[in-house]
Amino acid sequence: MLRKPFLLFTLALFSSFQTGEEKGLKIYFERDFLVGTAVNLPQVMGREAGADSLLALHFNSITAENGLKWALVQPKPDQFDFAFGDAFVELGEKHQSYIVGHTLVWHQQTPKWVFQTEQGSPLDSASLAQRMYQHIETVMGRYAGRIQAWDVVNEAFEDDGTWRKSPWFTILGEGFIEMAFRKAEQIDPEAVLIYNDYNVWKPEKRAAILAMAKNLRANGVKIDAIGMQGHYRLDFPSLAQIEKAITDIHEAGFEVHVTELDVDVLPRPSDSDGADLNINFAASPKWNPYVDGLPQEVEEKLVKRYADLMKLFQKHSDKMQRVTFWGMHDGRSWLNNWPVRGRTNYALLFDRDKRLKKGFWEEMN
Ligand code: G3I
Repeated sequence: MLRKPFLLFTLALFSSFQTGEEKGLKIYFERDFLVGTAVNLPQVMGREAGADSLLALHFNSITAENGLKWALVQPKPDQFDFAFGDAFVELGEKHQSYIVGHTLVWHQQTPKWVFQTEQGSPLDSASLAQRMYQHIETVMGRYAGRIQAWDVVNEAFEDDGTWRKSPWFTILGEGFIEMAFRKAEQIDPEAVLIYNDYNVWKPEKRAAILAMAKNLRANGVKIDAIGMQGHYRLDFPSLAQIEKAITDIHEAGFEVHVTELDVDVLPRPSDSDGADLNINFAASPKWNPYVDGLPQEVEEKLVKRYADLMKLFQKHSDKMQRVTFWGMHDGRSWLNNWPVRGRTNYALLFDRDKRLKKGFWEEMN
């Protein structure tokens, strides 16, 4: 359900002018899916040299990496800060991008006050529902008709398929997802509404997500897509596991959006297999082995991994709306700081000099 069908048509007109080194990802994949990137404050404010031209050449979709999360957009009760959001939407419109809002209801980057009374005791369910509704009305409403898709609810399930015991769940119960989606539809009926999560390749987690989404739809709730975040590693999960997730989501009747693609190349302490942002290990050479550059054989493995993933997504392009990378280039990846702060990671398709990693086109052919 792309809302800008003219976009693909326009891109097709330009494709014949793109050759050799100048070839952009968005042109290469124009018949398959949109190619997106997460963007952050310096990039939307025009304060990062080269970011705008990289965006123009390679990407036709943008997602707000942090700036539309609750803690940033409504840091205090009724105090909204739209400096990022306004610049983000203007940037997307300038580039005729498919613009993705991230995210309305999440347990991370949501201030404690949201779930508490002024005295600091837990909020009652009616008051929390009111806060959720007001937040969605104010943030989504400001950009209604201009942001094409929203990650309405983010990461409501644990990897084993049980409900995450977040304050949303604890205070409002399972119904908080339905409440968020109903309100989102009311505020912008045209927007593509997404449930977004990581490790969707895990069967138990996927089953829980799809059961929830089908149940919502059976109750007349608009829920269009499942976002598979796609925080992968060099050799894990397997292509077969990812493919099964794509086909299962499609068979259940939902669009597939790959919303946060990256590939971690660094060793990971054994007990940090999920995406728990509280984990932090003291930086040491053991956990930060490639400070002076990525060895050639690892880079080759990374490029092949990306090509394999993109070919898999192409194979299922009839089910896929979008593939978004979680950052424009290695210098901007969250994986430089998780699960160990201050590392040098190489998780994206563009290096710190904003060059496409060598060998990618060769691997694609
Ligand atoms: O902006 C402050 C800066 O002023 C301060 O000096 C610095 C000190 O730590 O922190 C900076 O804020 C950081 C922020 O990113 C901006 O860089 C936060 O500490 C850090 O926690 C935050 O991390 C973000 C993370 O979500 C937090 O939840 C990552 O950038 C962002 O990529 C990541 O994105 C999430 C998706 O939203 C949901 N799916 C998982 C994905 C990866 O965790």
